[in-house]
Amino acid sequence: MAKTAERYVCQSCGAVASKWSGRCAACGEWNSLSEEPLSAGPPRGLDAGKGREIPLQSLRARAGEAEPRSASGIAEFDRVCGGGLVPGSAVLIGGDPGIGKSTLLLQAVAALAKLGRRCAYISGEEAPQQVRMRANRLGLADADVELAAATSVRDIIATLDRSDAPHVVVIDSVQTMYLDNLESAPGTVSQVRGSAQELIRLAKRRDMCLLLVGHVTKEGQIAGPRVLEHMVDTVLYFEGERGHQFRILRAVKNRFGATDEIGVFEMTDAGLMEVSNPSALFLANRSGDVSGSAVFAGLEGTRPVLVEIQALVAPSPPGTPRRTVVGWDSGRLAMVLAVLDARCGLALAGHDVYLNVAGGLRIGEPAADLAVAAALVSSLTDVPLPAETVLFGEVSLSGEVRPVNQADQRLKEAAKLGFTRAFTPPSPKRRKPPLAVDEVRQLREMVAHFTSRAAQERRAG
Ligand code: TYD
Ligand code: MG
Repeated sequence: MAKTAERYVCQSCGAVASKWSGRCAACGEWNSLSEEPLSAGPPRGLDAGKGREIPLQSLRARAGEAEPRSASGIAEFDRVCGGGLVPGSAVLIGGDPGIGKSTLLLQAVAALAKLGRRCAYISGEEAPQQVRMRANRLGLADADVELAAATSVRDIIATLDRSDAPHVVVIDSVQTMYLDNLESAPGTVSQVRGSAQELIRLAKRRDMCLLLVGHVTKEGQIAGPRVLEHMVDTVLYFEGERGHQFRILRAVKNRFGATDEIGVFEMTDAGLMEVSNPSALFLANRSGDVSGSAVFAGLEGTRPVLVEIQALVAPSPPGTPRRTVVGWDSGRLAMVLAVLDARCGLALAGHDVYLNVAGGLRIGEPAADLAVAAALVSSLTDVPLPAETVLFGEVSLSGEVRPVNQADQRLKEAAKLGFTRAFTPPSPKRRKPPLAVDEVRQLREMVAHFTSRAAQERRAG
């Protein structure tokens, strides 16, 4: 007789284990295994019986076929989606609770509805009245969007599986959806995965664009949307710092577009506003002539973005010095510190180092190395950077400053925002730059600039 089967499913990565343990062997997450009843038997091969023949199609585009994407007109949203929503695709939007996912999607479907797309918004968390109240607040009370409160996937499919199905459907959120033939509770990995699978199948069948909201929780009680990432075509994250009004929409996977694009929004009392010039926003509260501040001319996807990098270097009490980073990679900071120490002779080992990217942006580019180094040295020597200066450049372990891509575009953006000077890596064939450029070959050269200024001031003072 078969033993009663039990299995434990990691709520973080979806790995299945036959025994409970405190830590998932697959992803290393602690306390994420939870018991789920085993519904299906062991997977079997194909049994006898003939399959249906599939019509094969040509890859070549059919004549007269137009670009099928639907753009919402909210440029920051469309760009991250790769130019608009693709019919028959599934988009997952993850983010912390309260960050603004429902608001963003309500605004997006309202905009799409205005452009004549049929849109439905299905909420498993709020009653239609609550959604209406929110729409009112956003000034979207007259938007032609179909509303429903539902959590049963069977009912949702029964409602939407028709020839005049909506073009765009929002499911808010996938963690509240359930399939009535599965025993586990809504929010568990099997329910989330099963519900998403059914909804995605519906979207493909009816050529509609499915927007799934997924919560990310730290506790791992509710299934994170991680397990869904493989199933959907596009994964967007909506992020922002609490206490900051900026929200950044970031594509981390996109079958129909680039993944390094970001969309910047500002949360106001009338909903999310597009920020078409994020540099101005990130630099808004910069106080000019202070040490430890450097402006990095960065690139987010196709768009140049200027951000302020702030550093504080202070003598530390005996013991291990502190290294605290917000908005940048701590491993990368350790590397820049090591290069400053070994190649430029700056003794940083006895100092606490704090590094912050202003405005709540997260930078992933190594091109920020030079700006980070400048902020650190500026704080250490207490010499501010020359006024209206931007920096970019990757620093190698030998202390060499390496070229980065799109230098001209970065310089152009800096000039546009009123910057007059730039520290950049050497570039042999640069056309006439729009601002004064100081080429830095070795990190040492830039450090010398600060230390000689500091010495001058000591002599003068
Ligand atoms: P919401 O979209 O409900 O977040 P999520 O769906 O990601 O959980 O947004 C919730 C927060 O946004 C809430 O704290 C209030 C704030 N908010 C505004 O500041 N202005 C607005 O116009 C709206 C609708 C929400
Ligand atoms: Mg919500």
